[in-house]
Amino acid sequence: MGIQITPSVLNADLSRLADEVARIPSSDWIHVDVMDNHFVPNLTLGIPVFESLAKATTTPLDAHLMIADPDRWAPAYAEAGAGSVTFHAEAAAAPVRLARELRAKGARASMALKPATGIDQYADMLGELDMLLIMTVEPGFGGQKFLDLCLPKIRRARELISAAGLEVWLQVDGGVSLETIERCADAGADVFVAGSAVFSAEDPDAMVRELKAKAEATLG
Ligand code: DX5
Ligand code: ZN
Repeated sequence: MGIQITPSVLNADLSRLADEVARIPSSDWIHVDVMDNHFVPNLTLGIPVFESLAKATTTPLDAHLMIADPDRWAPAYAEAGAGSVTFHAEAAAAPVRLARELRAKGARASMALKPATGIDQYADMLGELDMLLIMTVEPGFGGQKFLDLCLPKIRRARELISAAGLEVWLQVDGGVSLETIERCADAGADVFVAGSAVFSAEDPDAMVRELKAKAEATLG
């Protein structure tokens, strides 16, 4: 599939969500951070706002659910128009069942790991996933510093995916910028979330293209 950039709208002007998304037409996906004040200490938006945004853009939506009990809530995001739904491994009671349910509802199934969660214990279920998200900050807020300690896990995940002959996309989220994207691409990531890097740029769409070019250049 190649390199994909999926800007997070967490740091956009949330009173003008559809306009903000229209400013970044070069995006492959739009990353929507759903936080519930339980799984993470922050609260953003839920199904009604998500569904409205899905109707307001032709760019596919990538829902990142930082919520407790995703087994109960995640399928509704697939029904609300998400092209991809990411739940957290730390929050899911039955991740295999949930991934299958998401796929059955027509969405790409994705699972996220917080920085301290290892990948090896999930190696056997990679075939159930369309994407694996390796968080490179503790989830909850935009604008945090990239955690280099996650790089070996990205490398390990890429090894496991390749060894199993799978086509699972490997996404990174948190502190991704022109300064850090090469390290992530070099470690094997191919889908890049960027929030503050894109929305604090003078020209957000140019930043999306620059990030993509830099990641592509790293792969040679
Ligand atoms: C953090 C969110 C991220 C966040 C990224 O918990 O999951 O998607 O918006 O923002 P930056 O790119 O600023 O770290
Ligand atoms: Zn996110």
